[in-house]
Amino acid sequence: MPAEPLYLTTPIFYVNAEPHLGHTYTTLIADVLARFWRARGRRVFRVTGTDEHGDKIAQAAAKAGVAPKEFVDRISATFRSTWEATGLACDAFVRTTDPHHVAFVQRILADIHARGDIYFGSYRGLYCFGCERFYQERELVDGRCPDHQVPPTEIAEENYFFRMQAYQERLREHFEAHPDAIVPEGYRREVLALLREPIGDLCISRPKSRLTWGITLPFDERYVTYVWFDALLSYVSPLEERGLRAELWPHAHHLIAKDILKPHAIYWPTMLMAAGLPLYRRLLVHGYWQMDAGKMSKSLGNIVRPLEVKARYGMDAFRYYLLRDMAFGQDAEFSEAALVARLNGDLANGLGNLTSRVLAMQQRYFQGVVQPRAPEERDDLLRAAFVTARGESDEHVKGLAFHRALESIARALDHADRYVVETAPFTLAKDPAKRARVGAILHELCEALRVAAQLVEPFLPETAARLWGLLGLPGERLQDLDLAWGAAFAPGHTTAPPVALFPRVELVPE
Ligand code: MSP
Repeated sequence: MPAEPLYLTTPIFYVNAEPHLGHTYTTLIADVLARFWRARGRRVFRVTGTDEHGDKIAQAAAKAGVAPKEFVDRISATFRSTWEATGLACDAFVRTTDPHHVAFVQRILADIHARGDIYFGSYRGLYCFGCERFYQERELVDGRCPDHQVPPTEIAEENYFFRMQAYQERLREHFEAHPDAIVPEGYRREVLALLREPIGDLCISRPKSRLTWGITLPFDERYVTYVWFDALLSYVSPLEERGLRAELWPHAHHLIAKDILKPHAIYWPTMLMAAGLPLYRRLLVHGYWQMDAGKMSKSLGNIVRPLEVKARYGMDAFRYYLLRDMAFGQDAEFSEAALVARLNGDLANGLGNLTSRVLAMQQRYFQGVVQPRAPEERDDLLRAAFVTARGESDEHVKGLAFHRALESIARALDHADRYVVETAPFTLAKDPAKRARVGAILHELCEALRVAAQLVEPFLPETAARLWGLLGLPGERLQDLDLAWGAAFAPGHTTAPPVALFPRVELVPE
């Protein structure tokens, strides 16, 4: 049976901010999962994009003094080029201003309206004209808008509503019956708690008298679509456009952070039910990167820009830090000093050091030519350590515990370090009678490095490819996980002279 395909999405990001660490983390996880599953035979398709309609964007454009379309074109292009430059580009990039997406949203709205799940009604609420949005009483500070410091105006407005409430029970049953539909489990419990209270209906329109930057309702010219109704459909529209919906939509996995759990766990599945589409398979919810124990935000001036971090430390070191220091699902504190400590401690001293030692000995004793194996018990134990690492790290990735997967790989590398000390090829090399054993030890170590390259590939793709090249192996075999220990290096195979994979760095002062 062919392996099940995997359709992976990131949120489509608002274009009122430039790409930062938070956006990068989610997109990185999509990249890691795509690499991991592709190497294991699954077809993977990834979509990211930009969310370009609504009040927030219209305001940001006005602040920048440009027309909304010009503004969104510019920032959307920044997201796209950032993912290209960081090696995190997806297979499709969707924009909510794409004509195809707009037409798709209108078609779904017309369908749901025709089925009777959208009705016209009046809405009364506290509106801040400065923010161009309604406020809940509890969001106000001393009865005033927290941004504009003025009391909001009570206004009544006629709008369209989606009968979300009608689907509540079905949704609750779905999440009860599918324990892995939202992971980690804590977030599923949060959603089930929300579903114990009435969820109400969802206002899905904004009058054009207030906001024009949006998709016009197909059944009433005077209104535009509420931004979430528009945005969530971007998970399906790019598949529809490419004729991939039937094949991929049933295998949809959405990656998000906890901030947008409710729209994804409540609005989206009820919308899908109303539109007669299957529900997504899974929501994968991660925590928040914090800085100085606060939420990252532009106004605080502590934005971490991915291209700057890449330029300072290299993309793989950045990837390693993000994957190693956040437990998927929980919050983590970002610190550049911690990144540097990981780079020097784990990468330079770990895989980097082992690589240069092994390649240096290969060079010095055998001009790089790999010698025949002659396995002894210690050698079998080394191989076993890497077999264990493979099994453990696979299980951890399947459970989204990326930090644990890296720990498992690090344990095998530690084992290899100890193997070097215990077998002491540098001492044996002084005795010409031990030459064959020295060669055999180095062959085992080359195998250890070869498997290490394959294991780290989803996490550290540049490093894996470099290490593979240093070992003199052909690029297309990097994904060949069935390659047996001992079969990678044919007689006469030559490895390259050593290079530093991860030069040690100092913390770059601000
Ligand atoms: N446009 C909506 C999503 C629509 S999806 C149909 C939106 N955009 S956003 O630009 O605000 O992106 C939110 C997402 O960015 C989070 O869910 C997460 O993926 C990522 N992050 C933004 N800041 C983050 C952190 N500080 N930490 C981790 N990820 C965060 O919401």
